[in-house]
Amino acid sequence: MGDLGQTDVLQKASQEADIVINTAPDITHAEAIVAVLGGIKTHGGNGDGNRYYIHTSGASLIWDEPEGRGNARWWDDIDDIATISALEEKHTHAVTDQIVREAAPDVNVAIISPGFVGGISPSIEHQLPITTPALINTARAFDSGFKIAKGDNCHAWIHVQDLADMYLILVNDAWTALGGQRPPPSPSRLDSDLPLWGPEAYYFASGEDIRFADFMDGLVPVLKQHGIIRTDAGIDSVNVTVAARKSLAGPGGEYDALAPPPPPDSWAMHIAVMYGVNMRLRPSRIERLGWKAKMGSIVGTLPAVVAEFLQQEAKEKAQIA
Ligand SMILES: NC(=O)c1ccc[n+]([C@@H]2O[C@H](COP(=O)([O-])OP(=O)(O)OC[C@H]3O[C@@H](n4cnc5c(N)ncnc54)[C@H](OP(=O)(O)O)[C@@H]3O)[C@@H](O)[C@H]2O)c1
Repeated sequence: MGDLGQTDVLQKASQEADIVINTAPDITHAEAIVAVLGGIKTHGGNGDGNRYYIHTSGASLIWDEPEGRGNARWWDDIDDIATISALEEKHTHAVTDQIVREAAPDVNVAIISPGFVGGISPSIEHQLPITTPALINTARAFDSGFKIAKGDNCHAWIHVQDLADMYLILVNDAWTALGGQRPPPSPSRLDSDLPLWGPEAYYFASGEDIRFADFMDGLVPVLKQHGIIRTDAGIDSVNVTVAARKSLAGPGGEYDALAPPPPPDSWAMHIAVMYGVNMRLRPSRIERLGWKAKMGSIVGTLPAVVAEFLQQEAKEKAQIA
């Protein structure tokens, strides 16, 4: 139909919808979000304030310094909602989250804010986690596992199917309010006194908290099994700049320790920062609605993820050749 740059198309389509789910990138697409919300506000031409928008944000909002340190703070989406909502513009996602909150009087809004998304999706197009190429290619460049300092920093991870369940809870609620068939009630949902929608309806999505060094302990044997790294390679301890320079140089590339670090807004730097930050999330709000992660640890999905990545990579290379 159109893409995020076509605000007129977005506004018109949103005007006709009862529920809009946005799972496209939010960063650098504020205008698209404004267009969608503008369309929903005038649903059916006059707007009755009774339509729904589910926004996808991200928990990089609360990343700390990328130093590989442990014992970082936990962020709870109920207890810390005032702090989360007031984070300044310099925090990733803060600007677009605010645009969504400000639409709350006219639109029933909810923000889902995932940690890293893992597992294999049943989608026909994007089955693999977006972090897969960076993790594998950085390990290729090091020819070993890697971590920032001791890798004591922890990341929230959520399996893509557990994440989908969160959207379903909200869609079911909206659907019921719009006069659709009522979904089976969940006991905790009935006990919840929290509004599902509105300016405070900010849902962290996390199924588990994994120390980066433990994640690498799970990934390295899989990479060795597939010959991506040497069988005798250990786990290198580096800093963020080295990780960024190394992944830019690529496998067998010339690593220059004196080269200036990649620009702070480059993808290489963003990915390297990701390796060293903490992102510890308590998804209290969705748990109060009866949600529980069911898919198991994403570390258990790494063998299938790496195998699928290599298959796709081989296919792409064959197409180019
Ligand atoms: N992946 C994660 O680990 C993660 C973690 C936290 C938060 N998030 C958040 O989740 C959201 C989506 O992230 P993602 O990882 O799923 O990213 P993605 O793969 O880049 O994008 C998801 C979808 O958005 C579509 N899209 C991208 N640019 C578009 C454009 N200009 N116009 C129309 N559609 C466009 C893509 O379409 P095509 O099919 O055409 O490519 C794709 O289907 C973002 O808000 C991100 O911040 C993701």
